[in-house]
Amino acid sequence: MPHTLDPALRRALAERVRYYNELGIYDFYQRGPAVQESAVGTAAGIAPLLALSTALQSETREEMAARKSAVVAPVADESIFEAHTPKPEYSVTDPVTALKIIREDLGECTRCKLHEQGRKQIVFGVGNPRAELMFVGEGPGADEDAQGEPFVGRAGQLLNNMIKAMGLQREDVYIANVVKCRPPGNRTPEPDECDTCSPFLMRQIAAIKPKVVVALGATAAKNLLAMNSSLGDLRGRFYDFKPAGVRSNDPAWPGARLAVTYHPAYLLRDPRQKGEAWKDLQMVMKYLGLKASSGAPK
Ligand code: URA
Repeated sequence: MPHTLDPALRRALAERVRYYNELGIYDFYQRGPAVQESAVGTAAGIAPLLALSTALQSETREEMAARKSAVVAPVADESIFEAHTPKPEYSVTDPVTALKIIREDLGECTRCKLHEQGRKQIVFGVGNPRAELMFVGEGPGADEDAQGEPFVGRAGQLLNNMIKAMGLQREDVYIANVVKCRPPGNRTPEPDECDTCSPFLMRQIAAIKPKVVVALGATAAKNLLAMNSSLGDLRGRFYDFKPAGVRSNDPAWPGARLAVTYHPAYLLRDPRQKGEAWKDLQMVMKYLGLKASSGAPK
């Protein structure tokens, strides 16, 4: 049934939807009647927001067509429980273009406090946009912040060795982090920083469509899987993985597996765990049909 909205409420909701889009959030979910609603939500329930999100699609498409050269296809078959404003890269099938659009959308990001805590530059991600294998770390350190590329310091050297031992080159895979700006003093990124940044990582994964994502360390594992178990409990098996924001029935999402292993920086501190990490990588290699180049990574 079409929703008739009071014009003032419609404007308020439209503003809200655009605000979320600016934050990189395009998807709205109705969790059920127990969900706490905000001032706008309380007045009207979330249904108008979902309906408006869909109604705004054509407006958004026109705006985006003006802003970007990408063509955005209409989203068909919206369920009442999931409303997705089309992401700018939605109907772009070429991952190179899709990643460019996501990078453009990220802009000179000031969405979380990391932008004013000493970052030199945003570290977006690097590698093959058509990679079958993707590695996700925690966040840039000093070297990455200086060079604008993930995993270029000591941990990066070990990650390179791990990739080589798997029979691949660094250029074959794609590498990114949960947060794209260096946390001061290399502290662990805080939950609000991860929550703000991870929609962009999810969009990168959705664009690249790797067969396997390897989460390096607890921050990556917990954010990608939305699980709070220990790393020891999470590693050693595959998970079916779908990036947040991809619709459950999206025909463009071919499915991916996710494996968890130790972060290379942790392996530098405790090299005795390298054997366990190698087991995780061998599980991935078997699935991808890769042959080890030599032995376990040094
Ligand atoms: N550690 C990470 O998690 N990511 C990097 O890019 C470098 C070190």
